[in-house]
Amino acid sequence: MILRYVVLISSAIIAWSVLYIAQMHNTLISPVALQEKAVGDDTISIDEQVEKLLQSMTLAQKVGQMTQIDVSDVLYGKSRDPVLAINRARVAVYAKLGIGSYFNSPFDATIHPHGRTGWTATEWRMFLGSIQAIYKEHNAIPFIYGIDTTHGANYVQNATIFPQPLATASTFNPELAHAMGRIEAKDSIAAGIPWIFSPVLGIAMQPKWSRVYETFGEDPYLVSQMGVAVIRGIQSLNLSAACMKHFIGYSNPTSGNDRADSVITDFELLNYYAPPFIAAVRDGNVLSAMETYTSVNGDPVVQSRKLLVDLLRNDIQFDGLLVSDDDEIHRLVAEHHVARNELEALEMVMNHTSLDMNMVSEKHRSTSLLSKLINASHIPTSRLDDSVRRILKLKASLGLLPTSESEAAKHATITSNHLTSVGSQEDLQLAQTTADESIILLKNKMQEPIDAVNPKLVLPIIDPNSKIFITGPLAHNKAYLCGGWTVYWQGTDDSDQIPHGLTIKEALEARFKNVVHHEGVDIDGYADGEVRAPIADEEENILTLSAKYNTSLARAAAADYTIVVVGEAPYAEKSGDIDDLTLPQGQLDYITTLSSVKSTNVIVVIIAGRPRLLAKSLANVQAVLLSFLPCEAGGEAIAKVIAGDVNPSGRLPLTYPSSTGHIHVPYFHRMNIACKESFSECPVEWPFGSGLSYTTFKYDNLTLSEWRVNKENGTLGVQVAVTNTGTRAGKEVVMLFVSQKVRHFSVPETKMLRRFKKIDLPPGGVEIVHFELTSEDWSYYAPQIGNGFQSVAEEGLFHVLIKHDTTCNSVKKNSMCAHFHVV
Ligand SMILES: *[C@@H]1O[C@H](CO)[C@@H](O)[C@H](O)[C@H]1NC(C)=O
Ligand SMILES: *[C@@H]1O[C@H](CO)[C@@H](O)[C@H](O)[C@H]1NC(C)=O
Ligand SMILES: *[C@@H]1O[C@H](CO)[C@@H](O)[C@H](O)[C@H]1NC(C)=O
Ligand SMILES: *[C@@H]1O[C@H](CO)[C@@H](O)[C@H](O)[C@H]1NC(C)=O
Ligand SMILES: *[C@@H]1O[C@H](CO)[C@@H](O)[C@H](O)[C@H]1NC(C)=O
Ligand SMILES: *[C@@H]1O[C@H](CO)[C@@H](O)[C@H](O)[C@H]1NC(C)=O
Ligand SMILES: *[C@@H]1O[C@H](CO)[C@@H](O)[C@H](O)[C@H]1NC(C)=O
Repeated sequence: MILRYVVLISSAIIAWSVLYIAQMHNTLISPVALQEKAVGDDTISIDEQVEKLLQSMTLAQKVGQMTQIDVSDVLYGKSRDPVLAINRARVAVYAKLGIGSYFNSPFDATIHPHGRTGWTATEWRMFLGSIQAIYKEHNAIPFIYGIDTTHGANYVQNATIFPQPLATASTFNPELAHAMGRIEAKDSIAAGIPWIFSPVLGIAMQPKWSRVYETFGEDPYLVSQMGVAVIRGIQSLNLSAACMKHFIGYSNPTSGNDRADSVITDFELLNYYAPPFIAAVRDGNVLSAMETYTSVNGDPVVQSRKLLVDLLRNDIQFDGLLVSDDDEIHRLVAEHHVARNELEALEMVMNHTSLDMNMVSEKHRSTSLLSKLINASHIPTSRLDDSVRRILKLKASLGLLPTSESEAAKHATITSNHLTSVGSQEDLQLAQTTADESIILLKNKMQEPIDAVNPKLVLPIIDPNSKIFITGPLAHNKAYLCGGWTVYWQGTDDSDQIPHGLTIKEALEARFKNVVHHEGVDIDGYADGEVRAPIADEEENILTLSAKYNTSLARAAAADYTIVVVGEAPYAEKSGDIDDLTLPQGQLDYITTLSSVKSTNVIVVIIAGRPRLLAKSLANVQAVLLSFLPCEAGGEAIAKVIAGDVNPSGRLPLTYPSSTGHIHVPYFHRMNIACKESFSECPVEWPFGSGLSYTTFKYDNLTLSEWRVNKENGTLGVQVAVTNTGTRAGKEVVMLFVSQKVRHFSVPETKMLRRFKKIDLPPGGVEIVHFELTSEDWSYYAPQIGNGFQSVAEEGLFHVLIKHDTTCNSVKKNSMCAHFHVV
């Protein structure tokens, strides 16, 4: 405690001395003044502008540029008035130090004075403008503000909040992901925030991980497609930068707990984890990246030359700004134990990597450390120049370094014009469409009692007079549909804080006349009035399940349909760690008990941020709907699907495991994976790509343009006819997988998704879907890091598989399998 205090004080002293030196030398030049010189010189390029600015900077200013500070640090206590709360004296110190960036939302569930839940776009703008004005008074280079944004401008009051990325991935519709990126950037720009920490490009390899819902699922190709769409959306206004994260390997913590270390072979890094980042750079022109907290194979990423320089800069050729995650220098000492102290840790990072910006939650500690280090001549200034150049270049490309007052005014006008559209009907409609297309129908059995003459499926419920009992902990809570990173970092359980939309119960009431609601069990699985203290256990044990759910059972018995909404409460990062992937037993018992009522049809709706297991509780339910956090448009989307206003078209973006013992299996696992009692397929609850429709689709006439392709320059055309053979219009995701029969280098994957296309067909409609494959689709990357990507194509037999549940083998002919030879 005392030591910590001393460190803080001494760092403050050092910081001040840096400031003092800078003033003594009178070298705190004015970037604005400098830039004014360029007025009238229309031909000056961003590179030239940056170079001039760099030449004029002191060492201290360069160090300042490379530091990003938590915004709470420039606020007084818990006050959150967007102007009065600013600690102007501290901002002035930081302006003089040239601190290059700030981040974070200053609100959390404990800090919301005067009933506030956050700032509106106008307030954010006022707040950031006031800080920027102090910077200007001190002729400091304008700072760039960065913020965590997972599904819309989630920290800007009244902005449109989309479904979480995993739900957006379930749409298999990149246009909607693009809309999400564009709108989150637009609303942030309105708020004066140009830097969006999104998208997460990790592939969800560990279903227990608390950040699965921030990903686009487990498949490298799907993650690439959705990720690039979000990046293009964010950067489409030319006013904001996306930030691909977290580079690399964060998404497979070995223990399943957040920030636990991972063990990943180079083959897997290059072939499964790297492709979304390669696509983000090559096809998305992503402007920034964030590395990860974790270590991969014992190498903490933030100081890894192999991962951050050899792989990211050299092989992937990323030349944008690379920022650390929160307080990582400190963590090299406190968590990874690879450095004795922070000075050594910082030296390691500076020596080994090309990290440009250091995110720090506590004061400017590392700023002073960095100055100390440079003073000791351990770090060449060229190392700093490379980073500062990238930082200034990003700022200039986003219009943050105007070269004249008129340019500054123009930028202010363009960005503030977006204020009027925050939370607009048009944006809300796009979030609604995304939610509508994200709902996944996984089970739909015949309605009980079965009508012998005209049997029909349970869903959709067509009759508006149907008696509906809606129950469960997520039936009437909009906040629970949103998950973490919504209003606050950890999300909220208070629906009043979610700006738009309805709960599932409210949305059903708007469509059906006879809706009865009763919660039944809470999010932890406890029934009404159940005593939680251990002392009650004995009493609880003698309560039979049916007595426990007495009220609910009576209501279910009186209803045609019983809709049970189960799932998770919001969480983010470490607070979402769990020991068991199974939902709380009380929620499962509740489903089991209700589905013993024979006179009702039970429909289970699962709302969760990861594939939580339901054990045997679904055995006797008639229908199952799943959504990976659809947020504010979700209540309406689920009601629309239940009532048949929307034909479900969501598909599973990851494998839904059936038991905790089988959680390590993505659909593209290696061929020789061994399950418990055989070498056959491992059992799963629902495979990747699953999802039913209210209509039926028939696939015919799969044809390939060639039966032999050249391994390097060959191309292969694939076409298949898809017919809507039902009576309703519907959307279908046509999926194309490729599998390699034999791979000499390493055991091949069972199959890999290589293309998909979402189509919309009226009843009886036919579409011939065309795909074109190239050598990338039958190649793999040789596991070499630091020598570029060496694509290897082995000669031999390959299969094209259409549809998610197709397997090809010689024993049983399948019309959705076709083969070709690579020569
Ligand atoms: C937020 O939106 C709601 C609904 O459109 C509106 O009633 C409210 O005034 C808005 N709040 C702010 C602070 O703009
Ligand atoms: C953004 O810049 C690109 C390339 O210069 C240009 O094609 C595009 O029209 C610009 N978009 C907007 C919204 O200004
Ligand atoms: C960093 O590099 C300098 C200069 O080569 C060297 O003196 C120093 O020991 C290195 N420090 C670490 C932690 O690698
Ligand atoms: C850097 O060196 C100067 C003199 O060379 C000294 O006055 C200053 O305190 C040093 N700064 C730090 C942060 O050690
Ligand atoms: C529920 O409670 C009512 C009244 O307390 C009782 O008559 C009924 O038998 C109970 N039903 C069950 C299923 O326990
Ligand atoms: C499939 O091919 C057959 C034979 O060419 C043709 O008669 C049929 O119409 C095709 N089916 C579809 C759905 O295009
Ligand atoms: C593809 O490469 C082979 C040699 O590997 C060459 O013979 C052939 O002409 C090339 N085809 C095309 C279309 O470039």
